[in-house]
This record gives sequence, C-alpha cells and structure tokens, in this order.
Amino acid sequence: MKILIIGGGNMGLTYARSFINSHVVNAEQLMILEKDKDDRIENLARLGLAQIITDYTKIPEAELVILAVKPQDAASLFSKIKPYVDASQVFLSIMAGITIQTIREGLQVNKIIRAMPNLPAQIGSGMTAFTATEEVSRFEEQWIQNLLQTTGKTLNVQHETQIDVVTAISGSGPAYIYYFMESMIKAAMSMGIRTAEAELLVKQTFFGALQLYQQGNFSCSEWIQKVASKGGTTEAAIHVFEEGHLDQIIIDGAKAAFQRAVELGK
Ligand SMILES: NC(=O)c1ccc[n+]([C@@H]2O[C@H](COP(=O)([O-])OP(=O)(O)OC[C@H]3O[C@@H](n4cnc5c(N)ncnc54)[C@H](OP(=O)(O)O)[C@@H]3O)[C@@H](O)[C@H]2O)c1
Repeated sequence: MKILIIGGGNMGLTYARSFINSHVVNAEQLMILEKDKDDRIENLARLGLAQIITDYTKIPEAELVILAVKPQDAASLFSKIKPYVDASQVFLSIMAGITIQTIREGLQVNKIIRAMPNLPAQIGSGMTAFTATEEVSRFEEQWIQNLLQTTGKTLNVQHETQIDVVTAISGSGPAYIYYFMESMIKAAMSMGIRTAEAELLVKQTFFGALQLYQQGNFSCSEWIQKVASKGGTTEAAIHVFEEGHLDQIIIDGAKAAFQRAVELGK
C-alpha cells in the first residue's frame, strides 16, 4: 500500500514520523508532496522518512492520499491535483473546517475520511476523531484507523457534525488546559512562589491528577470529593469557582468554539 502525504508541515511530518516509527509502512511506501521552495525539499529528504516529490504525476501511485495543507490552501490544491486523482483512491483530510462535501466537489472523489487530530499527536498522545463516507470499505477504514492510532487514540464518529464538536473539545482542548495551568501558575506567583517553582507545582499536579484519574474507577466529581474535605482548603476554592459559575464559563467557551467550527465549514 502506498501513501502520499500532501503538505510536509507540522502535521504531515507528524504522520510520516509516526507511521515509520511504528513500522506500519516503510520509507519506500511513503511519499510527501511539498512545494519546491527554499531548501525545503533537501531538508525533508534529509529526514529519510519518505520519498519527497514536488510534481503531481506520482499522485496516481498512492492508494491513500493524506491532505495536510492549511484549510486556506485547500481550494488551490484541489484545482492542481484534480487531474491526477481517481475514484479508487482514499482521501484522508485533516484540514480543519473543510467538509466532506467540499472535498467531493473539489476533487470529484467519494472515498473520503475526515479526521480531527490534536497537537499531542506530535508525541503519540493525540486524540483523533474521524468519520468516513459510505464509499470507504470496512477494510480501508480499519487500515486508516490503524494509521491514525500511531499518533494516539482514535474515535470513529458516525456524523460529520460531530467533528465540529470534537474540534471544540479535543481539538482546541489542549489550549483550555494550558489556560487553566497558566492561571494556576499566576496564582502561585501572586502568593510569592518563583516562576520555575510555580511551573513545577502546576505541571506535576496536572500530570499526577490525570494519572490518578486514568488508573482509578472514579468520576471527576468523585475525585473532587476525595480531595475536598468538609470545611477544608479545596472546598474553599471550589466554592469560589462555583459562585463564579466557572463550569458554565467553560461550557460556553467550548460552545463558542463549536459555533466557530460550524461557521468555518460554510
Ligand atoms: N497543527 C495542529 O495541531 C492541527 C490539529 C488539527 C488539524 N490540523 C490541520 O492540519 C493541517 C496542516 O496543518 P499544519 O500545522 O501541519 O500546517 P503547515 O505546517 O503550514 O503545513 C502545511 C504545508 O503544506 C504546504 N503546502 C501548501 N500548499 C501546498 C501544495 N499545493 N502542495 C504541496 N504542499 C503544499 C505548505 O507550504 P507553505 O507554508 O509554503 O504554504 C506547508 O509546508 C491544517 O489544515 C490544519 O487545519 C492541524
């Protein structure tokens, strides 16, 4: 099976590295199509991950084509590659906001998987949700899910609208976590702790809390109850969060991200 990744940027390279390091494909089965710009081709070739190409005539060789350019480059890419694609190929798009319908119309193909990865995919701890059109066979879907799993966990969603929800939760989610972490670092510093120490306290607290959550059989509220004893320090903090309706603010934020994802898809 030959795979072509179009766009050798952050995500394109993340996939190339993950596929090769997981031995699901070898460098002879992988091609990356990039622009012939600066010393880009030489730099990519030096990585030894794949065959690096700049012309479109090799596109028909690939069984799977991964579309990993920025969403704003999608239309111009479609017009360039359309003469070289055919209906037997599967197209995996990770372009945020580019709908299956847009890809169908732009490339006149039907075997499409739309996926939404997130940033931790770069270190194999990503969360990717995907949805496939009915023209994609069970075998192809399973093969692509295995490929995506080289970057972390996957979730197969039945309806494309759920990709917008996923975008608002796991796609944007890492930024929400960093926002909360940053606030805790600021809190520690405002109470006299030095930056490096504040960062250590917060980093290890997030790490430990998540590890505990993953290993135990308790819900988040049950864990909160375990930390927050009656009349204690944690309860004092949670009381302030609840008075400020922090949970509702987070829900509203995620809903705003969802609305934006819907708008961008139009
Ligand atoms: N980064 C994330 O965490 C993340 C998460 C979810 C989804 N995504 C999606 O992943 C996609 C890629 O993001 P990224 O951060 O990897 O972008 P990126 O680093 O900018 O990589 C895209 C690469 O594709 C190249 N390119 C553009 N048009 C091309 C063409 N016609 N032929 C060949 N190469 C072309 C770009 O070159 P130029 O820069 O010269 O144009 C660039 O090198 C986006 O659609 C984004 O929505 C990213």
